[in-house]
Amino acid sequence: MGQGRVLLAIEGLSKAFGGLWAVRDYRLSLPEGAIYGLIGPNGAGKTTVFNLITGFLKPNGGRIVFAGMDITGWRPDRVSYIGIARTFQLLQLYRTLTVEMNLLIAHHKHSRYGLFVALTGWPSYLRCEREVRTRVGELLEIFGLARYRAARAGTLPYGLQRKLDIACALATEPRLLLLDEPSCGMNPREAEELAHLIRTVKERYDLTLIVVEHRMPFIMGLAERIQVLDHGVLIAEGTPEEVRRDPKVIEAYLGVEDVVA
Ligand SMILES: Nc1ncnc2c1ncn2[C@@H]1O[C@H](COP(=O)(O)OP(=O)(O)OP(=O)(O)O)[C@@H](O)[C@H]1O
Ligand SMILES: [Mg+2]
Repeated sequence: MGQGRVLLAIEGLSKAFGGLWAVRDYRLSLPEGAIYGLIGPNGAGKTTVFNLITGFLKPNGGRIVFAGMDITGWRPDRVSYIGIARTFQLLQLYRTLTVEMNLLIAHHKHSRYGLFVALTGWPSYLRCEREVRTRVGELLEIFGLARYRAARAGTLPYGLQRKLDIACALATEPRLLLLDEPSCGMNPREAEELAHLIRTVKERYDLTLIVVEHRMPFIMGLAERIQVLDHGVLIAEGTPEEVRRDPKVIEAYLGVEDVVA
């Protein structure tokens, strides 16, 4: 449960594409240590919110403050460096490289050591390198990937590829993790296991999370608080129970199957 101070504060966040608002006046006050859910019908603006937070899109207006720093409009690499990691709806793995290489590359992309320092083997780098290997080894264990470490990522069963994708995000040592439909394509048993894994890594690495999901039982069971977007506008926010019973939410989802289940 999230009882900490506010880690991510967003106000008035807006983004338009060709004159249409994909996100309008979005706000969030996310306490450190919390798991929040972000739901809404297709095209509601959920992924756009993630793209704005992580710098893949520049907002037309609004402010994003992370750990007291105004990061509005920062580039993705800077956002990643200060401790925000994300996954994408579509997997971002190097399919022909091994599971372990995917994790090492994910970490190095965010490392403060450049290639020169790595090649010359400075002591501080070697120390860092040991820490990286420890973290990668841990992630392989936690995600049940240890016996696949030398397998090419593209050969793993789909459920494991999705897990590896999350593990790669964690290899960057984030404080805030944004997951975009992490259970997509998983069967119910795999999804349940994933929810358990997310709680495990949250405790293990002191994470704060926002999870975008379509699978209602999954997000209702995982998130302590849920925001609902519809046509780019925040139409509800509350506990899973409050959101489930909110008439505006039920209306937004009318015609969409499997919702307030
Ligand atoms: N790069 C882009 N250029 C133009 N329009 C975009 C772009 N990205 C998103 N949109 C539009 O913005 C709106 C919100 O899209 P977004 O992908 O954020 O929705 P979503 O809630 O993540 O949907 P889904 O559940 O289908 O993933 C949609 O109308 C979409 O077509
Ligand atoms: Mg999306």
